[in-house]
Amino acid sequence: MDEIIEEIRDAERITAFTGAGMSVESGIAPFRGEDGLWNKFDPQEVASASAFVETPERSWKLFKLQIEECLESDPHKGHYSLVELEDHGLNSVITQNVDGLHQRAGNNEVLELHGSLKRLVCQSCRHSFMVEEFLDDIKEGHIPRCECDEILKPDVVLFGEGLPHDILQRAWKEAENCDLLFSLGTSAVVQPAASIPAAAKKSEAKIVEINLERTPLTHDVSDYFLKGKVGEKLPEIIDRL
Ligand code: OAD
Repeated sequence: MDEIIEEIRDAERITAFTGAGMSVESGIAPFRGEDGLWNKFDPQEVASASAFVETPERSWKLFKLQIEECLESDPHKGHYSLVELEDHGLNSVITQNVDGLHQRAGNNEVLELHGSLKRLVCQSCRHSFMVEEFLDDIKEGHIPRCECDEILKPDVVLFGEGLPHDILQRAWKEAENCDLLFSLGTSAVVQPAASIPAAAKKSEAKIVEINLERTPLTHDVSDYFLKGKVGEKLPEIIDRL
């Protein structure tokens, strides 16, 4: 921990790369592991581009659950620590999460690699709506539809879809230009997002990983590994700065 504090003091540009583990302490289920969504849903059957076209009602069972979880969740101490870290050089948060909790906590620059649940987009006319407009429908189990009658899809990246190009470019740039990258609560197995820490490392950034368990990054990419909850470790770091 002493060395991590020194690294933060020495760093001019810091980036955080976050995954579903960042939101677990807010009450949002991760994807993998015992309580993970992919234990309840087969991702290819509900969260792939082709599944949404063929059986949107199945996909909407997952989206309904995710949207309702988000509505019931608030940022936790770890999220607020990342806001405080902006006073110590944090430039951006690159997130795989679609729950909007970093923005709600108050981070200024949040790059959502996998989109956001807060918008719904028509797959036919591309009209975009705020999810709030359809909450009653969604809660009652109806699938929201556009004015043109097409089924709406949350503005999230499904398997088989590309990541938003400009966001991805900005994320690579942040990774390549930072001196220190925090990898927080991600299993780092879904590409291309999972390559962000390695891109930072290649540009000579130090990598600090916080996770409950070791990941593919721990041995090869991370310079420091803190085993534990982000909601405990990040406030501990801020207290020491
Ligand atoms: P995962 O569910 O794969 O991994 C969550 C990670 O968080 C695991 O490594 C856990 O050990 C860790 N974890 C859980 N609780 C934690 C806590 N309180 N503190 C610290 N670590 C904790 O989630 P992601 O890595 O985000 O993509 O998954 C990546 C992508 O896979 C997601 O964005 C999603 C999914 O399929 C799409 O839907 C496109």
